[in-house]
Amino acid sequence: MSEITLKKALEDALDKEQKAHDFYMKLYDLLSDLGAKAIIKELAEEEVKHREMITKAMETGKIEHIGLDTKFYTTDLGIAQMVLPQVITEDMSVQDVLRIAMKHEDNSRIFYEKLAEKFAGSEAEEFFRRMAVEEANHRNKIQNIYDDIVYDEN
Ligand SMILES: [Fe+2]
Ligand SMILES: [Fe+2]
Repeated sequence: MSEITLKKALEDALDKEQKAHDFYMKLYDLLSDLGAKAIIKELAEEEVKHREMITKAMETGKIEHIGLDTKFYTTDLGIAQMVLPQVITEDMSVQDVLRIAMKHEDNSRIFYEKLAEKFAGSEAEEFFRRMAVEEANHRNKIQNIYDDIVYDEN
């Protein structure tokens, strides 16, 4: 059973946020609708903000009283199963990519919810819960773009 620290969990989160940002920048190029582009750009910027929040938490020790070296068991986190298609290929439709984006956001939400459960009762729990809510909001925004596109085509 592998053991990881809160520090490692936050580093994984940083990595996840970077990937989400890069993904949205690619999606931004793919979209032609200006309204949809604006929303995706906003989401990309929010992922940057998430990175900043996590970095700040690590640097200032905002969640320090539980200790960055607090250990927990990671085998039941289920993060390993969250395999995401990271590559956007030419033959994908915008709908395909938006579906991937929604899955991406679902996984991010679950990732933070599981971390919140792991650190229940601590300041880190609140932090992770807040992140989970933001990722849920991201998913809803993408769902709206998706619905608009599907509606327009039918
Ligand atoms: Fe995020
Ligand atoms: Fe997100």
